[in-house]
Amino acid sequence: MNQVLFELRGVSRNYRRGDSVVHAVNGIDLTIGTGEFIALEGPSGSGKSTLLQLLGTLDRPDAGEIFFEGRPLHTLGDGALAELRLNALGFVFQQFNLIQTLTALENVEAALAPHGLRGDSLRARAHNLLDEVGLAARESHLPVHLSGGEQQRVASARALANEPRVILADEPTGNLDSKTGSDVVDLLAGLGERHGTTIVVATHDAALAARAPRRVAMRDGSIIEAVPA
Ligand SMILES: Nc1ncnc2c1ncn2[C@@H]1O[C@H](COP(=O)(O)OP(=O)(O)O)[C@@H](O)[C@H]1O
Ligand SMILES: [Mg+2]
Repeated sequence: MNQVLFELRGVSRNYRRGDSVVHAVNGIDLTIGTGEFIALEGPSGSGKSTLLQLLGTLDRPDAGEIFFEGRPLHTLGDGALAELRLNALGFVFQQFNLIQTLTALENVEAALAPHGLRGDSLRARAHNLLDEVGLAARESHLPVHLSGGEQQRVASARALANEPRVILADEPTGNLDSKTGSDVVDLLAGLGERHGTTIVVATHDAALAARAPRRVAMRDGSIIEAVPA
C-alpha cells in the first residue's frame, strides 16, 4: 500500500432507537491508502453511509479513533474539521444535489468560488472540469435538462473543485440504470487515477462493487470481508 490516508481503530457509532441501540458501525478497523479505489459494499442498513459520514468528518464516532493523513480527527474542533472538508474532501451523493436554478457550469463554479477564483479564471477552471467528465458540450444546461448520468457527471466535476485527496461517494449509482451506473463508477475510477485521488464508493450493488480493485463488505456495522484482505 502507498501512504496511509485513513486509519480507523475500533470505530463505532451507535444510534438510539426507542429503548434499543443500533450499532450502525461496530468496532471497525480499516486502513485506506492514498490513491486507492475502494468499494464499500453491503445491503441497506449495513452501516455504509454512517461509515462514510465518519470518514467525511460529518459525524464523530462514539468510540475508537480515526486518523486522516496521520492527524487524529478527535483532536480537531468543528472549525478545523470544516476546513479539512473544504480543502481535502470531496463528496458525491445518490441524489446528485445540484442546484436546480444554476446551469451545469454555474454549479461547478459555485463549488470553486470558496477557493478564491473569480471571473474568467473561475469560468475556465469550471469548464475544464466539465470537459474532463465529458460534459463540456452541455455546460449551459440546467440540471432538469440533463439525464441522471449527466447530472452525476456534473456532481463528480464539482467534487473535484477543491482538488480533494479523497472523494466519498454514497450510492452514486443508486438513481441510475446499471449501464449508466457502471459508467459513473468507471468515471470516478479514472478521475481518481488521473488526479491521484482516493475514491471510496458505498454501494449495495455487489456487481458494481466487483469493479473495484479493493472491496470491503459490511454487515450489521461490521466488516465481514475485505478483498484483498
Ligand atoms: N440518524 C440515524 N438515527 C437512527 N438510526 C440510524 C440513523 N442513521 C442510520 N441509522 C441506522 O443505522 C444503521 C446503518 O444505517 P446506514 O449507515 O444508513 O446503512 P447503509 O448506508 O448501509 O444503508 C441502520 O440500522 C439505520 O437504520
Ligand atoms: Mg446508505
